[in-house]
Amino acid sequence: MTETVTTVEGLRARVSAWRSAGFSVGLVPTMGALHAGHLALADQARSRSQKVIVSIFVNPAQFAPHEDFDRYPRTLETDLQKLGSAADLVFAPAVAEMYPDGYSLKIELGGPALGLESEFRPHFFAGVATIVAKLLIAAMPDIAMFGEKDYQQLLVVRRLVRDLALPVEIVGAPIVREADGLAMSSRNAYLDKRERAIAGHLNRVLKDVAARVHAAQVLQDAGFNSVDYVAVRDSGTLEPLGEFRHPARVLAAARLGKTRLIDNMAV
Ligand code: PAJ
Repeated sequence: MTETVTTVEGLRARVSAWRSAGFSVGLVPTMGALHAGHLALADQARSRSQKVIVSIFVNPAQFAPHEDFDRYPRTLETDLQKLGSAADLVFAPAVAEMYPDGYSLKIELGGPALGLESEFRPHFFAGVATIVAKLLIAAMPDIAMFGEKDYQQLLVVRRLVRDLALPVEIVGAPIVREADGLAMSSRNAYLDKRERAIAGHLNRVLKDVAARVHAAQVLQDAGFNSVDYVAVRDSGTLEPLGEFRHPARVLAAARLGKTRLIDNMAV
């Protein structure tokens, strides 16, 4: 079974032995409850570095008090079995190892951390940035793998590493999905049977929206000379939609020969 260390000191000792032997090192940060998405990250780390560390730590700093920190799945034994030889070392610290008594550093973020997830989880990216910075500084890997499933997180981490000039390459990996398109996630375990059947719609809707983004190309391929706009707007104010709760209107205008056509419909 994969060797596990629980202290930063233990992690550093292992990595420095590898360094002395000339090995390159890849890190895959996770919160455990591993699934095929995590394992794909470990495999890609393996293809890019000789030694692979998977960290497993449910990071309290990225959960708000009302969120699921307490019930987040913790399955270390099964995780180690699933990893098999995909990792050379698992770093699984206790909370007190990462946030010792009197811990007081707070990170404040701008740029890609603003908006989207931050509107609904204001504390989230500061917590992620804190733990990722600590993990990178502890392991000092050559590369660290992050999934595109958490796309905003990937951009936040890239910016963090650039801003701190950390000597590590952040590598993004494609999203691993279930057969119905649902992105794999440790939190999918919370879904009951009925909810699981509904969950696949999230990916179907994304495909619809992506198709709309491609609409301009479709019109041009069909023979339109140019497209002035294809837009989804708030049906009352015509402002760009900040969220999908508003009643929306889809509007388009395109040029065909000497003629300019417009159309729209309610969503
Ligand atoms: P966690 O949700 O466990 O995810 C760990 C890594 O796996 C992240 O980089 C995430 O994007 C990636 N991942 C998760 N599901 C995936 C999927 N279906 N396909 C591809 N990659 C996937 O994200 C976190 O943990 C935490 O925020 C962490 C970065 C570890 C900091 O605590």
